[in-house]
Amino acid sequence: MTADPKARLDAIARDLFGHLPCPSEPCATCTQLVPGTGSATAEVVIVGEAPGAAEDLSGLPFVGNAGKLLDRLLAEAGLARAEVFITNVVKARPPGNRDPSADEVAHHWPWLAAQLDVLRPRLLVPLGRHALGRFAPKSDRISEVHGRVLERDGRRLFPLYHPAAALHNPGLRTTLSSDARALGEALRAGDRKSDPASVSGAGAGNAPTMDERELFTEHFDSDPEAVWSALKRAAATMELHEADDATKTARLSTGVSLTSWGEHLVATVAPAATGADLVVRGRPKGSLLTTKWGEDIHAREVQKDLRTAVKNALIA
Ligand code: URA
Repeated sequence: MTADPKARLDAIARDLFGHLPCPSEPCATCTQLVPGTGSATAEVVIVGEAPGAAEDLSGLPFVGNAGKLLDRLLAEAGLARAEVFITNVVKARPPGNRDPSADEVAHHWPWLAAQLDVLRPRLLVPLGRHALGRFAPKSDRISEVHGRVLERDGRRLFPLYHPAAALHNPGLRTTLSSDARALGEALRAGDRKSDPASVSGAGAGNAPTMDERELFTEHFDSDPEAVWSALKRAAATMELHEADDATKTARLSTGVSLTSWGEHLVATVAPAATGADLVVRGRPKGSLLTTKWGEDIHAREVQKDLRTAVKNALIA
């Protein structure tokens, strides 16, 4: 067998295609199989649930709306799509996008297992409960273990909510964003803080709780581009550190990030800023507020002040 990882991944894809015709759903009902794509030397492997309609037509994973969000989350983690490998637990689209059955996941497992054997990723990122269920016991619920490193069965997992879930529930976008940044930090830190004993509980190391990271989500009745350009104008009147057009995120030097997501504005506080003084200057209203983040009453005031400042700037 060749040692070239790209050649080995190609051979696995050929083997997958070669098992057709297969009598069982979804292999028998899909337009084409979707083996996965990306770098053959990826340190990070993203594993989704199963192809959807866009993937079924293109033969590539995560190219529809969930894929666009995945690209933005990768950018927030400091990763380019080309440097990760993206695949699914089931390599064919279940009819009508229904959930894959346990038998279907088992049917496709040999190809996924072979891909992982070639890639041996530093971090495997299961997206959503179906993918997580393939690598972790049922007791690891996605709502409890997302956004942190878990060691299971000799693999280092970094579970995230499935991006499609955030398309239906914009509130989850905030959590996904924080988790994506935590993924970037875990990679940059070489997983130093990822003591498996501490990560399946309430919190990992110094990681802030979800509530500490979330400030607010605001909805505007404007088109997404208008929300983003208004947001940039508003951020420029505050302590703007950088505005990133690719991720539609304005980072303030206080550690607060303002992301425009469709018609929504999502405000988060970066994990690194937790516990530090949080300074919000909303010059449109001439307000200046300094507080210690984490004190409940002040946190609520900060949230109110920031929301008002941004809202006024957006309307102006
Ligand atoms: N959802 C998934 O889980 N995988 C894809 O490839 C696309 C959408």
